[in-house]
Amino acid sequence: MSKWIGTSNQNFSPYAMEELRRLFTSINFIQLIPGEVFLFDIPMESDEVQQLLSTSELIFLRHVQPIDREFVLTGQASDVNQLVEMISYIDSSVADKKISIHIRTSRESLLVNTKSEIKSAMEEAIVEVGGQLVLQNPDLIITIFAHHTHLYVGFGTVEELRSDWPGGAIRFQREEGQASRAKFKLLEAEQVFGLDLSLFKQAIDVGAAPGGWSSLLLERGLKVTAIDPAVLDEKVSRHPALTHLKMNASDVKLPKSSFDLIVCDMSWNPLLMSKLVLGLRPALKPYSYGVITLKLMNKKVMQSIREVKERLGSGYTVLQAKQLFHNRDEITLLIQKNG
Ligand SMILES: C[S@@+](CC[C@H](N)C(=O)[O-])C[C@H]1O[C@@H](n2cnc3c(N)ncnc32)[C@H](O)[C@@H]1O
Repeated sequence: MSKWIGTSNQNFSPYAMEELRRLFTSINFIQLIPGEVFLFDIPMESDEVQQLLSTSELIFLRHVQPIDREFVLTGQASDVNQLVEMISYIDSSVADKKISIHIRTSRESLLVNTKSEIKSAMEEAIVEVGGQLVLQNPDLIITIFAHHTHLYVGFGTVEELRSDWPGGAIRFQREEGQASRAKFKLLEAEQVFGLDLSLFKQAIDVGAAPGGWSSLLLERGLKVTAIDPAVLDEKVSRHPALTHLKMNASDVKLPKSSFDLIVCDMSWNPLLMSKLVLGLRPALKPYSYGVITLKLMNKKVMQSIREVKERLGSGYTVLQAKQLFHNRDEITLLIQKNG
């Protein structure tokens, strides 16, 4: 039997749980933060569960941590000692390793220690047993979730936890004069899908205004054809590598086999969006990639995702589907044009 904590975007935990229920025939859930964080147990060993989690497509499970240790909180400053003492029990897993500590607390938690207090107390213990505390590229993450009277602690790699950010809440620095917050979605997609945007040359950006995604593609050195009847941010529109087609995407005529990337962030009816992306297919070279957001408009979320995948499947392979931290009522797809 193993116990876990799962996290999804706000309000999407029912879908994350539905996906897990399909994967594990016997599974029990307890809501911790309604709509977002939940505990689950499965009558299977951790390794087996981890194997299934890592090889299955789980669109809505943003982060998962095993519960390897569980402590009861007293609400006193001495609560941190339990975590410090724990390091001496797990010393062989920590010795010679680069360790990151991720701490999350729910609003109702009894934990009184600050995150930096906990980290510096634990750092001392980690260094003592030969480990090193790092912020990036850890060998092992010690992930801590404090809720009510409990402290749940899990150990895992970035791949096992599905993110190298606490709870999968990836943050980017807002730049001065940034055209839109939407830029974060493409930045996150680049990381999560392991897509190196600078390897592409010519992109179509459908639904480009005000220009966050176009600005990122331009920064990565691509030539961009931005399609949107709306106005683009001035800094984006006057970039020499940008062409703005100020019109509805369904009226656009593009030269054949000229682009190697399509991105589309239209906030639009998903079936119409699919039709449009399929219509632009001739403009793409064989095996071109695409990053598109799929708006979740109605209650039949899973059905809608299935339908879009089926439709797009007539011209593209859907390589990955994931709800990113920066997606609101949508998910992001990584697609590739069939030959
Ligand atoms: C969420 S915004 C896109 C934000 C953009 N990705 C960014 O980074 O700034 C959606 C855009 O899609 C555009 N749009 C909606 N339907 C469209 C269509 N049929 N053709 C072209 N653009 C469309 C809207 O005008 C709007 O500017």
